[in-house]
Amino acid sequence: MADINDLKQEILRLKKEKNAIILGHFYQRPEVQDISDFLGDSLYLAQAVQKTTADIIVFAGVKFMAETAKIINPEKKVILPDLNAGCSLADSCPENEFKKFIDQYPNHKVVTYINSSIEVKALSDVICTSSNAKKIIESFYPNQKLIFAPDYNLGNYLSLELKRPMVLWKGGCHVHKKFSLEKILVLKRKFPKAQIISHPECSNEILIVSDFIGSTSNLLEYTKLSENDTFIVVTETGIIHQMKILNPKKTFIPAPPEDSNCGCNDCEFMKLIDLKKIYNSLVSEGPEIFIDENLRIRAEAPILRMLDISAR
Ligand code: 13P
Ligand code: SF4
Repeated sequence: MADINDLKQEILRLKKEKNAIILGHFYQRPEVQDISDFLGDSLYLAQAVQKTTADIIVFAGVKFMAETAKIINPEKKVILPDLNAGCSLADSCPENEFKKFIDQYPNHKVVTYINSSIEVKALSDVICTSSNAKKIIESFYPNQKLIFAPDYNLGNYLSLELKRPMVLWKGGCHVHKKFSLEKILVLKRKFPKAQIISHPECSNEILIVSDFIGSTSNLLEYTKLSENDTFIVVTETGIIHQMKILNPKKTFIPAPPEDSNCGCNDCEFMKLIDLKKIYNSLVSEGPEIFIDENLRIRAEAPILRMLDISAR
């Protein structure tokens, strides 16, 4: 292919020819975000999947997202352009250990973050995302005992916010765990008027100093509504592309990770997807996501429960 514009044109042509759509997460490369038919956070993308009439869904995201799409839409072809696009958070909760863990708490309901494997979802009562987690937890009677997994930071944040103790699995996302409070405070001293806005997968010490905490779509919305014009963004850097599009006159400073001199904190799994791989996946109609039907049915119930509660 001669250049990036030819590649984009070919992707558009193939999408039309094959009745395919591209779903893109906010952490994708800017050029991938730009060609996505549906672009958003984990909840928005799961909702888009529920409504689509396309025959082929190309997921520009990570494996748990493509798996969720296949669980909801088993009759459709769901493609993940690079099957190595995993998630360290999902990997931090292996099915066997999680099964033993929940067996220790027999009277508890299991609330599981969507960033988890299909096997772990199948062991859960309801799924949540960072956008709807409060609503999902509050859908249970106050005296209902809960387990929250796999993200410890998000679970701890929700427990404190909702004043609701929960049994927490100690998993985490390597990208959000890598942010350095010290470096964020250095930036804050340099730009005293900047607001610190963070994803709840960050550690409590970072959330405590944050002016706003929310999912990727909540953070984006906040930058639009806020009168402030400078933000220190404490989540994966991909979201800054949309922040700049929505707010061309505002300044966005990516919070740096502690282990590098570079100012950005990328999720290498998200960044595995590029235009070339999307083009190839449309040509070959693969790599496809396949799921055992029995497992799919068990994982579908808690996802549908989440979508139902979210729609209320
Ligand atoms: P959001 O649902 O907030 O987009 O989060 C997805 C994710 O992977 C966070 O690390
Ligand atoms: Fe998983 Fe973290 Fe990447 Fe999100 S940013 S996909 S939680 S590894």
